[in-house]
Amino acid sequence: MLSLRLWFSSLATHNTLSCSSRRSLFLVPHQILNNNTLISNTSKILSCCYEKPIKQNGIFSVASDLQSSSFSSSFPKDSPFSGLEDALVSYLFGKKRATDIAHMVWKHVVQKGDTVIDATCGNGFDTLAMLNLVADDSHNGCVYALDIQKDALDNTSLLLEESLNPNEKQLVKLFNICHSKMENAVPRNASFRLVAFNLGYLPGGDKEIITRSKTTLLALEAAKRILMPGGLISIVVYVGHPGGREELEVVESFAGRLCVENWICCKLQMLNRPCAPIPIFLFKR
Ligand SMILES: C[S@@+](CC[C@H](N)C(=O)[O-])C[C@H]1O[C@@H](n2cnc3c(N)ncnc32)[C@H](O)[C@@H]1O
Repeated sequence: MLSLRLWFSSLATHNTLSCSSRRSLFLVPHQILNNNTLISNTSKILSCCYEKPIKQNGIFSVASDLQSSSFSSSFPKDSPFSGLEDALVSYLFGKKRATDIAHMVWKHVVQKGDTVIDATCGNGFDTLAMLNLVADDSHNGCVYALDIQKDALDNTSLLLEESLNPNEKQLVKLFNICHSKMENAVPRNASFRLVAFNLGYLPGGDKEIITRSKTTLLALEAAKRILMPGGLISIVVYVGHPGGREELEVVESFAGRLCVENWICCKLQMLNRPCAPIPIFLFKR
């Protein structure tokens, strides 16, 4: 019998994910932790258990369970948490990528009509995911997409052209700029619901052009200044390339200094895959 219990709790200096050997899985977002009435109800809603996972080649196969109707999400379809539970469980069992988890967490925070920042737009996949979250029927919402490389902006522009209609594409503002200077690209006094970083190098591009600890830290500080309460700084860190581990340390140290009264900081790390991408979420209360 495989079982896990997860708590999404508030910490500024330690991982927020802990497991114990119980039969149920509970995912408890912070809003619910703040509300004792909800906690008992939601624990019932969120709990699920797995019967007989099949072990093949050393990997527990739960994909069929995850896809079967017996494992449909416990949330109603219109719930803001809908999909989050399945995505997180799929990630835990190696069936989803760090970026999928990031997108799912954004979905939980971002609202139609919001203004958000993609601080490393690269090939445009994150930008497109953000645009789909913010764009409403009246074409409100805005994504500021930044990258230091012209090639990345070209790739993003092409993807947006292929995927969006001209009105939607107009909601994305592209800037060939270092993210440490993000405040120069966005309107003065604007505040943002999401600032997302997908660090490292451009997939399929020049691996020498990577995010650097020093400018990443400056960019995180800028993001902190312009994030609205209820907003999220989302970071996916890659440690497999030179400088990646140092960059992770800088991000962790930045997150660790954020005061616990105002911030909830969470890191998801694969313990036996030392080079796996690491999603980090800094939620401003
Ligand atoms: C992992 S890729 C981003 C992937 C992208 N979000 C996507 O969905 O395809 C990292 C990107 O960060 C960009 N980058 C590196 N240093 C940067 C900086 N200082 N400011 C902004 N972008 C930077 C790189 O050019 C690269 O395109």
